[in-house]
Amino acid sequence: MDEKKVMLSGIQPSGDLTLGSYLGAIKNWGARAEEFDCYYFMADMHSITVRQDPAALRRRTLEQLAQYIACGLDPERNTLFIQSHVHQHAELGWVLNCYTMFGELSRMTQFKDKSAKNKDNINGGLFTYPALMAADILLYQPDYVPVGEDQKQHCELTRDVAQRFNHIYGDVFKIPEPYIPKVGARIMSLSDPASKMSKSDKDPNGSVYLMEKPEDIQRKFKRAVTDSDTERCVRYDPANKPGVANLMTIYAAVTGRTMEEIEREFDGQGYGVFKPAVGEAVVETLRPIREEAQRILKDKAYLESVYRAGAEKASRVAERTLRKVYKKVGFVAR
Ligand code: TYM
Repeated sequence: MDEKKVMLSGIQPSGDLTLGSYLGAIKNWGARAEEFDCYYFMADMHSITVRQDPAALRRRTLEQLAQYIACGLDPERNTLFIQSHVHQHAELGWVLNCYTMFGELSRMTQFKDKSAKNKDNINGGLFTYPALMAADILLYQPDYVPVGEDQKQHCELTRDVAQRFNHIYGDVFKIPEPYIPKVGARIMSLSDPASKMSKSDKDPNGSVYLMEKPEDIQRKFKRAVTDSDTERCVRYDPANKPGVANLMTIYAAVTGRTMEEIEREFDGQGYGVFKPAVGEAVVETLRPIREEAQRILKDKAYLESVYRAGAEKASRVAERTLRKVYKKVGFVAR
C-alpha cells in the first residue's frame, strides 16, 4: 500500500491570529487529511524568542488550538499538538544548530526585522530560531510545508541544512517543499499596505483578527488605506495601487474570484462600494470560524484531550527521526 504524503506546519501563538495567518497558511491546511498525513502545531517555543506575558501565551496557545479545529482541522484526522509538549523538537533543534552556519542565520530577513523591532532583547534564540524551525519540520519527514511567503526563506534554509546533513551521513531527512498559495501568500496591513499584516503589529487598525466582532472588521475595511491616485477605480496594479491590490487579493482569496472578475464586478464603482463589499465577504468567511472557536474554547477538557493525543502521536513519529539522527552523529544509545 502507498504511504500517504506528509504535510506539516505551525504558527506562533505570539499574538491573536490574523486574516493574514488564515489566508496565507491555515486556509490551505484544511480538507487535506484525505490525501495527506497532517501535523499542525502551536509553535510556543518559537514565541519566547520575543518576551511574552506567560498567562497570555498560555491563553493564546489554547485559543489557537480551538481556532485550528474551527477552521476545519478535525483532530481525529489531523495531528494537532503543542510544540513544547514534544521534547524531540528541542533536542533535534540543538543538533541542527551545529549544522547551521552563522552566515546563513545572519542572512535571515525575519531575524533582521525582529532584531530591529526588539533592540533591547536580541537574544540567541532569535538568531538560531531557523534551526529549531528546521527541526520542527524535519522530525516528521514531510513532503510539503504550507506557509505564507514570509516563511519561504526559513523553508529554504531547512532544505539546505537537511541536504548538508544527508550529504555527511546518508539519507536521514526527506527534503521538504514549501507550499505557498497563489493568492493570499502575503496579506498587507490595512493601514499601511507597505508592511505585512502581522499578529504583533502595534497598530490594531492594520490587522483583522479571526475572533474579531463583525462591526469592528467592517469598520477596519471601511477605513482601509487606498491609494491617492486620481483614477479611484478598482484595478489590479500592485506597483501603483498597493492598497487596492491588497484588498483585491483579500477579496479574491475569500471569494475564489479572479482579479478580472473583481474588476468587472466593481466596474464604474468607487472605493466607497468596494471596501464595504470586501469587509462583508471577510465577515461572512470568519463568522462560522469565530462562533465555532468560541464554542470549542468553553470545553477545556476536550481541548486537553486533543492536545494530549496530538503530543503522543507526534512524539512517536518524532522519536523515530531523532533516534536515527543521534545514532548518525555518534551518541551512545541509552
Ligand atoms: P508565523 O506565526 O509568523 O505565521 C504563521 C503562518 O502564517 C503566515 N502568515 C501570513 N501569510 C500571508 N500574509 C500574512 N500577512 C501573513 N502573516 C503570517 C506565515 O507565512 C506562516 O505560514 N516560523 C513560523 C512558525 C513555525 C513554522 C515551523 C512554520 C515554526 N516552526 C515549521 C512551518 C513549519 C512563523 O513565525 O510563522
